[in-house]
Amino acid sequence: MKIEVKICMGTACYVMGGAELATLSEYLTAKQLEYVEIKGTPCIDSCFNKEGNKRPPFAYVGEVLISEANVNKIREEIDRQITEQSL
Ligand code: FES
Repeated sequence: MKIEVKICMGTACYVMGGAELATLSEYLTAKQLEYVEIKGTPCIDSCFNKEGNKRPPFAYVGEVLISEANVNKIREEIDRQITEQSL
């Protein structure tokens, strides 16, 4: 089953570093690319969540919300979920 990776393309996320994530696929291995489907999404409303300490940019890897998302964090979560699927 493909893991859906949703990159928030809303303004707050974009200016806080989400722009880098638009080219995420270039940083994934062939194996990771087999398992994922990457989509951009409008604001997912997490930037308006003032409770807690989560900050933009945001991305979802499957059901897991990644805050302060960057390429490495997303790759790690993809690998974790690929491993989980293989068990
Ligand atoms: S702009 Fe990304 S969660 Fe709102």
